[in-house]
Amino acid sequence: MSKKITNRQFLAYLAADIGATTLTCARVSPITLRRPVDSQFRKLTANRNLANPVVLVTYATRAGSTMEIAHRIATELEERDFAVNICPIKRVTSLVGYSHVVIGSAIRMGSPLPEITHFVEEYHSELRGIPLACFAVYLQHDGQDETSRKARLAYLNPIRNLLSLQYEAFFTGVYDPTKVPSIDAVIGNIAKTPVGDFRDWAAIKDWGQSIFSVSLTAWKEREAVLL
Ligand SMILES: Cc1cc2nc3c(=O)[nH]c(=O)nc-3n(C[C@H](O)[C@H](O)[C@H](O)COP(=O)(O)O)c2cc1C
Repeated sequence: MSKKITNRQFLAYLAADIGATTLTCARVSPITLRRPVDSQFRKLTANRNLANPVVLVTYATRAGSTMEIAHRIATELEERDFAVNICPIKRVTSLVGYSHVVIGSAIRMGSPLPEITHFVEEYHSELRGIPLACFAVYLQHDGQDETSRKARLAYLNPIRNLLSLQYEAFFTGVYDPTKVPSIDAVIGNIAKTPVGDFRDWAAIKDWGQSIFSVSLTAWKEREAVLL
């Protein structure tokens, strides 16, 4: 959200934006997600509290593990009084009305998925005015040595080159060669991708509980003054 608009203008934008977001995004669901990607959407319920900051959690996935991590982060944010919309990045058509944005991407061939890069290129002007948190879901270079750390950090360079990231995280994901297309299994096996579910749900939960803490406090203070 642009810093130039007032809080009341922001609330007006929010009201105007509900129609668009209802069509494109879903409210957070705490359910464990096992079904195919992009079929998990429920319409926004009518009880959204417009006085709360609204976070867009958006992601790109191929095999689903990034989507499941995004849902967990969204659930943590909701528990902290953020209103949250969660949406695959290909379905996001506007950032109007969002006070904060979380972007998550699976890492393939050393980079975020192309829809992430396209989105950041298209929306970087708007994103510069919004607190932004990014996470990458990966499986290689997970060591604590300097070489691994640098390789890991580089995964988010396509985003970092355009935007400053207030919060960033790297979560180990999932690789099951029997559950990806055969070409992906060939590439995954050639790259010696470790097989298994390596997600650290405690770390994911911690991150969801810690991001945007400063801006939420400021938001609540401003609301208290306006009331
Ligand atoms: C074809 C393929 C390429 C991958 N390339 C990388 C890579 O370059 N670096 C890495 O750390 N992990 C890589 N991985 C592991 C994925 O990042 C990991 O499986 C992740 O959990 C996938 O997220 P998704 O389930 O949301 O698609 C690759 C996996 C596959 C199947």
